[in-house]
Amino acid sequence: MPATVVIGAQWGDEGKGKVVDLLAERSDVVARFQGGNNAGHTIVAGDQTYALHLIPSGILYPDTLCVIGNGVVVDPGVLCREIDQLEARGVGVDHLRLSGNAHLIMPYHIMLDTSAEIRLGKLSIGTTRRGIGPCYQDKAARVGIRVQDLLDESILRRKVDVALETKNEILERVYGQPRLDPDQVAAEVLRHAERLRPFIADTSLLIDRALTDGRRVLFEGAQGTMLDIDHGTYPFVTSSNPIAGAACTGIGVGPTRIDRVLGVSKAYVTRVGEGSFPTELRDETGRRMGERGNEFGTTTGRERRCGWLDLVALRYAVRLSGVTQLALTKLDVLSGFPEVRLCTAYRTREGDVIEDFPYHQSVFYGCTPVYETLDGWDEDISGARSLDDLPPRAHAYVDRIAEATGVPITLIGTGQGRHEVIDQVEL
Ligand code: GDP
Ligand code: IMO
Ligand code: MG
Repeated sequence: MPATVVIGAQWGDEGKGKVVDLLAERSDVVARFQGGNNAGHTIVAGDQTYALHLIPSGILYPDTLCVIGNGVVVDPGVLCREIDQLEARGVGVDHLRLSGNAHLIMPYHIMLDTSAEIRLGKLSIGTTRRGIGPCYQDKAARVGIRVQDLLDESILRRKVDVALETKNEILERVYGQPRLDPDQVAAEVLRHAERLRPFIADTSLLIDRALTDGRRVLFEGAQGTMLDIDHGTYPFVTSSNPIAGAACTGIGVGPTRIDRVLGVSKAYVTRVGEGSFPTELRDETGRRMGERGNEFGTTTGRERRCGWLDLVALRYAVRLSGVTQLALTKLDVLSGFPEVRLCTAYRTREGDVIEDFPYHQSVFYGCTPVYETLDGWDEDISGARSLDDLPPRAHAYVDRIAEATGVPITLIGTGQGRHEVIDQVEL
Protein backbone atom coordinates (compact mmCIF):
# COMPACT_ATOMS: atom_id res chain seq x y z
CA MET A 1 0.00 0.00 0.00
CA PRO A 2 1.01 3.61 -0.39
CA ALA A 3 4.54 4.30 0.72
CA THR A 4 6.08 7.62 -0.26
CA VAL A 5 9.66 8.73 0.19
CA VAL A 6 10.21 12.48 0.66
CA ILE A 7 13.74 13.63 -0.19
CA GLY A 8 15.62 16.88 -0.58
CA ALA A 9 16.44 17.42 -4.25
CA GLN A 10 19.09 20.12 -3.69
CA TRP A 11 21.66 20.93 -0.97
CA GLY A 12 19.29 20.60 1.99
CA ASP A 13 16.82 23.03 3.62
CA GLU A 14 14.38 22.68 0.74
CA GLY A 15 11.40 22.78 3.11
CA LYS A 16 11.13 19.03 3.73
CA GLY A 17 9.90 19.62 7.28
CA LYS A 18 6.97 21.71 6.11
CA VAL A 19 6.07 19.24 3.35
CA VAL A 20 6.29 16.20 5.63
CA ASP A 21 4.22 17.93 8.33
CA LEU A 22 1.56 18.75 5.77
CA LEU A 23 1.42 15.20 4.41
CA ALA A 24 1.67 13.63 7.88
CA GLU A 25 -1.87 14.77 8.59
CA ARG A 26 -3.04 12.17 6.06
CA SER A 27 -0.40 9.52 6.86
CA ASP A 28 -0.30 6.77 9.47
CA VAL A 29 3.47 6.62 9.85
CA VAL A 30 6.39 9.03 9.31
CA ALA A 31 9.85 7.46 9.43
CA ARG A 32 13.23 9.26 9.28
CA PHE A 33 15.80 7.09 7.52
CA GLN A 34 19.21 8.83 7.63
CA GLY A 35 21.22 11.77 8.96
CA GLY A 36 21.14 13.05 12.49
CA ASN A 37 20.85 16.37 14.24
CA ASN A 38 22.78 18.04 11.44
CA ALA A 39 19.24 18.39 10.08
CA GLY A 40 16.97 21.26 11.02
CA HIS A 41 13.39 20.93 9.86
CA THR A 42 11.08 23.88 10.46
CA ILE A 43 7.33 23.65 10.85
CA VAL A 44 5.19 26.75 11.20
CA ALA A 45 1.77 25.79 12.57
CA GLY A 46 -0.38 28.80 13.35
CA ASP A 47 1.62 31.09 15.63
CA GLN A 48 3.92 28.25 16.71
CA THR A 49 7.28 27.49 15.08
CA TYR A 50 8.98 24.14 15.69
CA ALA A 51 12.58 23.36 14.69
CA LEU A 52 13.05 19.60 14.68
CA HIS A 53 16.46 17.99 14.39
CA LEU A 54 15.98 14.29 15.08
CA ILE A 55 12.29 13.75 15.67
CA PRO A 56 10.27 13.08 12.50
CA SER A 57 8.20 15.96 11.16
CA GLY A 58 4.93 14.08 11.81
CA ILE A 59 5.21 14.46 15.58
CA LEU A 60 2.57 17.19 15.83
CA TYR A 61 -0.15 14.64 14.92
CA PRO A 62 -0.78 12.32 17.88
CA ASP A 63 -2.23 9.58 15.68
CA THR A 64 0.73 9.43 13.31
CA LEU A 65 3.38 6.95 14.40
CA CYS A 66 6.83 8.59 14.21
CA VAL A 67 9.86 6.39 13.71
CA ILE A 68 13.57 7.13 13.96
CA GLY A 69 15.02 4.40 11.77
CA ASN A 70 18.24 2.42 12.02
CA GLY A 71 19.90 4.61 9.37
CA VAL A 72 19.74 7.69 11.61
CA VAL A 73 22.62 8.63 13.95
CA VAL A 74 21.26 9.65 17.32
CA ASP A 75 22.78 11.97 19.89
CA PRO A 76 20.93 10.73 22.99
CA GLY A 77 21.22 14.04 24.85
CA VAL A 78 19.87 15.98 21.88
CA LEU A 79 16.98 13.55 21.46
CA CYS A 80 16.03 13.82 25.15
CA ARG A 81 16.19 17.61 24.95
CA GLU A 82 14.02 17.65 21.86
CA ILE A 83 11.46 15.39 23.54
CA ASP A 84 11.47 17.59 26.66
CA GLN A 85 11.06 20.77 24.63
CA LEU A 86 8.11 19.36 22.71
CA GLU A 87 6.44 18.11 25.88
CA ALA A 88 6.96 21.50 27.53
CA ARG A 89 4.99 23.02 24.64
CA GLY A 90 2.19 20.50 25.05
CA VAL A 91 3.21 18.15 22.21
CA GLY A 92 3.02 14.53 23.37
CA VAL A 93 5.57 12.00 22.10
CA ASP A 94 3.93 8.68 23.01
CA HIS A 95 3.74 7.93 19.30
CA LEU A 96 7.55 8.08 18.86
CA ARG A 97 9.63 4.93 18.24
CA LEU A 98 13.41 4.60 18.06
CA SER A 99 15.28 1.82 16.27
CA GLY A 100 17.52 -0.25 18.53
CA ASN A 101 19.93 -0.56 15.58
CA ALA A 102 20.48 3.18 15.15
CA HIS A 103 23.99 4.32 16.07
CA LEU A 104 24.69 6.71 18.92
CA ILE A 105 26.64 9.91 18.48
CA MET A 106 29.11 9.83 21.37
CA PRO A 107 30.85 12.83 22.95
CA TYR A 108 34.11 11.87 21.20
CA HIS A 109 32.42 11.99 17.79
CA ILE A 110 31.64 15.66 18.34
CA MET A 111 35.21 16.37 19.49
CA LEU A 112 36.63 14.54 16.46
CA ASP A 113 34.30 16.34 14.02
CA THR A 114 35.28 19.73 15.43
CA SER A 115 39.01 18.93 15.63
CA ALA A 116 39.10 17.59 12.07
CA GLU A 117 37.39 20.73 10.76
CA ILE A 118 39.81 22.99 12.58
CA ARG A 119 42.76 20.95 11.32
CA LEU A 120 41.52 21.17 7.72
CA GLY A 121 41.57 24.97 7.99
CA LYS A 122 40.85 26.48 4.57
CA LEU A 123 39.98 23.02 3.23
CA SER A 124 37.29 22.43 5.86
CA ILE A 125 33.91 21.05 4.79
CA GLY A 126 31.89 23.41 6.94
CA THR A 127 30.17 20.56 8.80
CA THR A 128 27.58 21.23 11.45
CA ARG A 129 30.09 19.86 14.02
CA ARG A 130 27.43 17.57 15.45
CA GLY A 131 29.64 14.44 15.20
CA ILE A 132 27.79 13.04 12.17
CA GLY A 133 30.82 12.00 10.06
CA PRO A 134 32.81 10.33 12.88
CA CYS A 135 29.69 8.43 14.01
CA TYR A 136 29.03 6.98 10.54
CA GLN A 137 32.77 6.27 10.30
CA ASP A 138 32.57 4.11 13.44
CA LYS A 139 29.44 2.40 12.15
CA ALA A 140 31.29 1.34 8.99
CA ALA A 141 34.38 0.39 11.00
CA ARG A 142 32.17 -1.78 13.22
CA VAL A 143 33.20 -0.07 16.43
CA GLY A 144 30.01 1.96 16.79
CA ILE A 145 27.71 1.99 19.79
CA ARG A 146 24.04 1.46 19.13
CA VAL A 147 20.79 2.50 20.79
CA GLN A 148 20.22 -1.08 21.98
CA ASP A 149 23.51 -0.92 23.89
CA LEU A 150 21.81 1.58 26.22
CA LEU A 151 19.77 -1.37 27.49
CA ASP A 152 22.82 -3.34 28.64
CA GLU A 153 25.21 -1.33 30.77
CA SER A 154 28.03 -3.88 30.85
CA ILE A 155 28.08 -4.26 27.06
CA LEU A 156 28.00 -0.49 26.62
CA ARG A 157 30.91 -0.02 29.03
CA ARG A 158 32.97 -2.66 27.23
CA LYS A 159 32.31 -1.05 23.86
CA VAL A 160 33.22 2.41 25.14
CA ASP A 161 36.49 0.98 26.53
CA VAL A 162 37.38 -0.51 23.15
CA ALA A 163 36.40 2.59 21.21
CA LEU A 164 38.35 4.94 23.47
CA GLU A 165 41.57 2.95 23.22
CA THR A 166 42.11 4.33 19.73
CA LYS A 167 40.03 7.52 20.03
CA ASN A 168 42.10 8.72 22.98
CA GLU A 169 45.30 8.22 21.01
CA ILE A 170 43.90 10.28 18.15
CA LEU A 171 42.48 12.98 20.40
CA GLU A 172 45.73 13.35 22.32
CA ARG A 173 48.43 12.75 19.72
CA VAL A 174 46.84 14.11 16.56
CA TYR A 175 44.65 16.89 17.92
CA GLY A 176 46.30 17.74 21.25
CA GLN A 177 43.03 17.23 23.12
CA PRO A 178 42.67 15.78 26.62
CA ARG A 179 42.06 12.01 26.90
CA LEU A 180 38.52 10.99 27.83
CA ASP A 181 37.73 8.81 30.80
CA PRO A 182 35.72 5.73 29.65
CA ASP A 183 33.63 5.67 32.85
CA GLN A 184 32.64 9.30 32.44
CA VAL A 185 31.77 8.83 28.75
CA ALA A 186 29.67 5.74 29.52
CA ALA A 187 27.91 7.55 32.37
CA GLU A 188 27.21 10.53 30.12
CA VAL A 189 25.22 8.42 27.64
CA LEU A 190 23.72 5.99 30.17
CA ARG A 191 22.15 9.01 31.85
CA HIS A 192 19.64 9.02 28.99
CA ALA A 193 18.94 5.28 28.93
CA GLU A 194 15.84 5.25 31.13
CA ARG A 195 14.31 8.23 29.36
CA LEU A 196 14.77 6.59 25.94
CA ARG A 197 13.98 2.98 26.90
CA PRO A 198 10.18 3.20 26.30
CA PHE A 199 10.72 4.39 22.73
CA ILE A 200 13.14 1.66 21.63
CA ALA A 201 11.56 -0.84 19.23
CA ASP A 202 12.06 -3.13 16.22
CA THR A 203 11.11 -0.38 13.80
CA SER A 204 11.68 -2.42 10.63
CA LEU A 205 9.04 -4.88 11.84
CA LEU A 206 6.65 -2.07 12.82
CA ILE A 207 6.84 -0.55 9.37
CA ASP A 208 6.54 -3.88 7.60
CA ARG A 209 3.33 -4.53 9.55
CA ALA A 210 2.00 -1.03 8.82
CA LEU A 211 2.61 -1.52 5.08
CA THR A 212 1.06 -4.98 5.11
CA ASP A 213 -2.00 -3.57 6.86
CA GLY A 214 -2.39 -0.99 4.10
CA ARG A 215 -1.35 2.01 6.19
CA ARG A 216 0.07 5.13 4.57
CA VAL A 217 3.76 5.48 5.32
CA LEU A 218 5.99 8.48 4.64
CA PHE A 219 9.76 8.04 4.66
CA GLU A 220 11.35 11.34 5.62
CA GLY A 221 14.80 12.19 4.27
CA ALA A 222 17.18 14.73 5.74
CA GLN A 223 19.82 16.85 3.96
CA GLY A 224 19.61 16.71 0.15
CA THR A 225 20.74 14.85 -2.96
CA MET A 226 23.75 17.07 -3.64
CA LEU A 227 25.05 16.29 -0.12
CA ASP A 228 24.89 12.53 -0.78
CA ILE A 229 28.11 10.76 0.20
CA ASP A 230 28.22 8.80 -3.09
CA HIS A 231 26.53 11.05 -5.61
CA GLY A 232 26.88 14.55 -4.16
CA THR A 233 29.62 17.14 -4.55
CA TYR A 234 32.19 15.03 -2.68
CA PRO A 235 34.01 15.82 -0.42
CA PHE A 236 31.65 18.71 0.43
CA VAL A 237 28.88 16.34 1.41
CA THR A 238 27.42 14.72 4.48
CA SER A 239 28.29 11.17 5.57
CA SER A 240 25.03 9.41 4.64
CA ASN A 241 22.86 8.85 1.56
CA PRO A 242 19.95 11.32 1.50
CA ILE A 243 18.61 9.84 -1.77
CA ALA A 244 15.45 7.71 -1.89
CA GLY A 245 17.21 4.34 -2.12
CA ALA A 246 18.55 4.88 1.39
CA ALA A 247 15.00 4.68 2.78
CA CYS A 248 15.22 0.90 2.25
CA THR A 249 18.44 0.37 4.19
CA GLY A 250 17.73 3.13 6.70
CA ILE A 251 14.42 1.59 7.74
CA GLY A 252 14.73 -2.04 6.77
CA VAL A 253 12.18 -2.42 3.96
CA GLY A 254 12.63 -3.70 0.41
CA PRO A 255 12.49 -1.42 -2.65
CA THR A 256 9.34 -3.15 -3.89
CA ARG A 257 7.43 -1.65 -0.94
CA ILE A 258 7.92 1.92 -2.16
CA ASP A 259 5.39 3.43 -4.53
CA ARG A 260 6.23 7.11 -4.84
CA VAL A 261 9.12 9.49 -4.43
CA LEU A 262 8.44 13.16 -3.75
CA GLY A 263 11.43 15.39 -4.39
CA VAL A 264 11.44 18.71 -2.55
CA SER A 265 13.13 21.67 -4.23
CA LYS A 266 13.08 25.37 -3.55
CA ALA A 267 12.10 27.62 -6.44
CA TYR A 268 15.76 28.74 -6.25
CA VAL A 269 18.88 27.20 -4.66
CA THR A 270 20.53 27.59 -1.27
CA ARG A 271 23.57 25.96 0.26
CA VAL A 272 25.21 26.15 3.72
CA GLY A 273 28.78 25.11 4.33
CA GLU A 274 31.64 24.93 1.82
CA GLY A 275 31.69 23.62 -1.76
CA SER A 276 30.60 25.47 -4.86
CA PHE A 277 27.31 25.50 -6.70
CA PRO A 278 27.28 26.85 -10.23
CA THR A 279 24.30 29.19 -9.95
CA GLU A 280 25.47 30.93 -6.78
CA LEU A 281 24.81 34.69 -6.84
CA ARG A 282 27.28 36.70 -4.82
CA ASP A 283 25.55 39.93 -5.69
CA GLU A 284 22.58 42.07 -4.77
CA THR A 285 20.11 39.58 -6.33
CA GLY A 286 21.50 36.76 -4.18
CA ARG A 287 21.40 38.92 -1.08
CA ARG A 288 17.81 39.86 -1.84
CA MET A 289 16.81 36.19 -2.21
CA GLY A 290 18.43 35.42 1.15
CA GLU A 291 16.66 38.32 2.80
CA ARG A 292 13.24 37.59 1.31
CA GLY A 293 13.61 33.86 2.02
CA ASN A 294 15.08 34.45 5.49
CA GLU A 295 17.90 32.10 4.57
CA PHE A 296 19.66 31.38 7.84
CA GLY A 297 20.38 27.80 8.94
CA THR A 298 17.90 26.16 11.33
CA THR A 299 20.69 24.17 12.99
CA THR A 300 23.73 26.43 13.01
CA GLY A 301 22.26 29.85 12.24
CA ARG A 302 24.76 30.25 9.39
CA GLU A 303 23.81 32.42 6.41
CA ARG A 304 22.75 30.30 3.43
CA ARG A 305 24.26 31.08 0.04
CA CYS A 306 21.61 31.68 -2.65
CA GLY A 307 21.30 31.34 -6.42
CA TRP A 308 18.97 30.63 -9.35
CA LEU A 309 17.30 27.26 -9.75
CA ASP A 310 19.67 24.71 -11.27
CA LEU A 311 17.75 22.35 -13.55
CA VAL A 312 20.86 20.28 -14.35
CA ALA A 313 21.22 19.41 -10.67
CA LEU A 314 17.46 18.98 -10.27
CA ARG A 315 17.27 16.52 -13.17
CA TYR A 316 20.19 14.66 -11.58
CA ALA A 317 18.22 14.44 -8.32
CA VAL A 318 15.18 13.17 -10.22
CA ARG A 319 17.35 10.47 -11.79
CA LEU A 320 19.12 9.39 -8.59
CA SER A 321 15.94 8.98 -6.58
CA GLY A 322 13.43 8.03 -9.27
CA VAL A 323 11.44 11.11 -8.30
CA THR A 324 7.79 10.75 -9.39
CA GLN A 325 6.59 14.18 -8.28
CA LEU A 326 8.10 17.47 -7.17
CA ALA A 327 7.27 19.92 -4.41
CA LEU A 328 8.42 23.42 -5.37
CA THR A 329 8.74 25.43 -2.17
CA LYS A 330 9.21 29.14 -1.51
CA LEU A 331 7.85 30.31 -4.84
CA ASP A 332 6.58 33.37 -2.92
CA VAL A 333 10.19 34.45 -2.30
CA LEU A 334 10.67 35.10 -6.04
CA SER A 335 7.86 37.70 -6.24
CA GLY A 336 9.21 41.13 -7.12
CA PHE A 337 12.27 40.12 -9.16
CA PRO A 338 12.13 41.81 -12.60
CA GLU A 339 13.27 38.57 -14.22
CA VAL A 340 13.81 35.02 -13.04
CA ARG A 341 16.43 32.66 -14.39
CA LEU A 342 16.65 28.91 -14.83
CA CYS A 343 19.95 27.13 -15.40
CA THR A 344 19.18 24.66 -18.19
CA ALA A 345 22.74 23.48 -18.93
CA TYR A 346 26.37 23.92 -17.85
CA ARG A 347 29.21 25.29 -19.93
CA THR A 348 32.46 23.48 -19.18
CA ARG A 349 35.86 25.15 -19.01
CA GLU A 350 36.50 23.87 -22.55
CA GLY A 351 33.32 25.56 -23.78
CA ASP A 352 31.19 22.41 -24.17
CA VAL A 353 27.53 22.76 -23.23
CA ILE A 354 26.32 19.80 -21.18
CA GLU A 355 22.87 18.96 -19.89
CA ASP A 356 23.77 15.98 -17.71
CA PHE A 357 25.37 16.54 -14.32
CA PRO A 358 29.13 15.84 -14.75
CA TYR A 359 30.49 12.90 -12.76
CA HIS A 360 34.02 14.33 -12.62
CA GLN A 361 34.59 16.88 -9.87
CA SER A 362 37.05 19.02 -11.78
CA VAL A 363 34.60 19.31 -14.68
CA PHE A 364 31.86 20.28 -12.20
CA TYR A 365 33.98 22.90 -10.47
CA GLY A 366 34.84 24.46 -13.83
CA CYS A 367 31.22 24.71 -14.96
CA THR A 368 29.32 27.94 -15.43
CA PRO A 369 25.55 28.06 -15.83
CA VAL A 370 23.71 28.49 -19.11
CA TYR A 371 20.54 30.43 -18.31
CA GLU A 372 17.10 30.77 -19.73
CA THR A 373 15.48 34.04 -18.61
CA LEU A 374 11.78 34.39 -17.91
CA ASP A 375 9.74 37.43 -16.95
CA GLY A 376 9.34 37.96 -13.23
CA TRP A 377 6.09 38.75 -11.41
CA ASP A 378 5.28 41.37 -8.82
CA GLU A 379 2.16 39.92 -7.26
CA ASP A 380 2.22 38.62 -3.71
CA ILE A 381 1.26 34.95 -4.13
CA SER A 382 0.99 34.04 -0.46
CA GLY A 383 -2.78 33.65 -0.74
CA ALA A 384 -2.66 31.30 -3.76
CA ARG A 385 -4.28 27.93 -3.03
CA SER A 386 -4.74 26.64 -6.56
CA LEU A 387 -2.73 26.92 -9.77
CA ASP A 388 -5.37 29.28 -11.14
CA ASP A 389 -4.59 31.73 -8.33
CA LEU A 390 -1.02 32.17 -9.61
CA PRO A 391 -0.15 35.14 -11.81
CA PRO A 392 0.49 33.90 -15.39
CA ARG A 393 4.25 34.55 -15.18
CA ALA A 394 4.62 32.54 -11.97
CA HIS A 395 2.51 29.83 -13.56
CA ALA A 396 4.79 29.82 -16.61
CA TYR A 397 7.86 29.50 -14.36
CA VAL A 398 6.37 26.43 -12.65
CA ASP A 399 5.33 24.88 -15.98
CA ARG A 400 8.82 25.34 -17.39
CA ILE A 401 10.36 23.49 -14.43
CA ALA A 402 7.91 20.60 -14.79
CA GLU A 403 8.66 20.43 -18.50
CA ALA A 404 12.43 20.52 -18.07
CA THR A 405 12.46 17.83 -15.38
CA GLY A 406 9.72 15.66 -16.89
CA VAL A 407 8.11 15.43 -13.46
CA PRO A 408 4.75 16.85 -12.36
CA ILE A 409 4.82 19.52 -9.66
CA THR A 410 2.13 18.47 -7.20
CA LEU A 411 2.88 20.91 -4.39
CA ILE A 412 3.88 24.57 -4.44
CA GLY A 413 4.95 26.58 -1.40
CA THR A 414 3.44 30.04 -1.27
CA GLY A 415 4.44 31.04 2.27
CA GLN A 416 5.94 29.75 5.48
CA GLY A 417 2.76 28.63 7.19
CA ARG A 418 1.55 25.05 7.20
CA HIS A 419 -1.35 25.76 4.86
CA GLU A 420 0.35 28.33 2.63
CA VAL A 421 0.55 25.89 -0.21
CA ILE A 422 -0.99 24.72 -3.47
CA ASP A 423 -1.47 21.05 -2.69
CA GLN A 424 -2.34 18.43 -5.28
CA VAL A 425 -0.46 15.53 -3.69
CA GLU A 426 -2.23 12.19 -3.62
CA LEU A 427 -0.89 9.70 -1.12
P1 GDP B 1 14.25 21.47 5.65
O1 GDP B 1 15.55 21.27 6.32
O2 GDP B 1 14.22 20.93 4.26
O3 GDP B 1 13.08 20.99 6.46
O4 GDP B 1 14.08 23.05 5.50
P2 GDP B 1 14.36 24.16 6.65
O5 GDP B 1 13.24 24.11 7.62
O6 GDP B 1 15.74 24.04 7.16
O7 GDP B 1 14.34 25.48 5.79
C1 GDP B 1 13.25 25.86 5.03
C2 GDP B 1 12.74 27.23 5.55
O8 GDP B 1 11.82 27.75 4.62
C3 GDP B 1 11.99 27.13 6.86
O9 GDP B 1 12.18 28.30 7.59
C4 GDP B 1 10.54 27.00 6.41
O10 GDP B 1 9.62 27.46 7.39
C5 GDP B 1 10.54 27.89 5.22
N1 GDP B 1 9.56 27.54 4.17
C6 GDP B 1 9.21 26.29 3.74
N2 GDP B 1 8.38 26.38 2.70
C7 GDP B 1 8.18 27.70 2.46
C8 GDP B 1 7.45 28.44 1.47
O11 GDP B 1 6.80 27.90 0.60
N3 GDP B 1 7.55 29.81 1.54
C9 GDP B 1 8.28 30.46 2.50
N4 GDP B 1 8.32 31.78 2.47
N5 GDP B 1 8.97 29.79 3.43
C10 GDP B 1 8.94 28.44 3.40
P1 IMO C 1 18.43 19.52 6.46
O1 IMO C 1 17.87 18.16 6.79
C1 IMO C 1 21.67 21.90 4.79
C2 IMO C 1 25.74 20.32 5.29
C3 IMO C 1 26.68 21.07 6.21
C4 IMO C 1 28.00 20.77 5.53
C5 IMO C 1 27.83 19.33 5.07
C6 IMO C 1 28.42 18.29 6.00
O2 IMO C 1 18.00 20.59 7.40
O3 IMO C 1 18.19 19.83 5.03
P2 IMO C 1 27.68 17.34 8.37
O4 IMO C 1 27.49 18.00 9.69
O5 IMO C 1 26.48 16.63 7.85
O6 IMO C 1 28.90 16.43 8.36
O7 IMO C 1 28.01 18.53 7.34
O8 IMO C 1 26.42 19.12 4.97
N1 IMO C 1 24.46 19.93 5.91
C7 IMO C 1 23.28 20.50 5.64
N2 IMO C 1 22.98 21.56 4.87
N3 IMO C 1 20.70 21.22 5.41
C8 IMO C 1 20.96 20.14 6.16
O9 IMO C 1 20.00 19.36 6.71
C9 IMO C 1 22.31 19.75 6.35
N4 IMO C 1 22.94 18.78 7.04
C10 IMO C 1 24.24 18.88 6.75
O10 IMO C 1 26.38 22.45 6.23
O11 IMO C 1 28.14 21.57 4.38
MG1 MG D 1 17.04 22.38 7.29
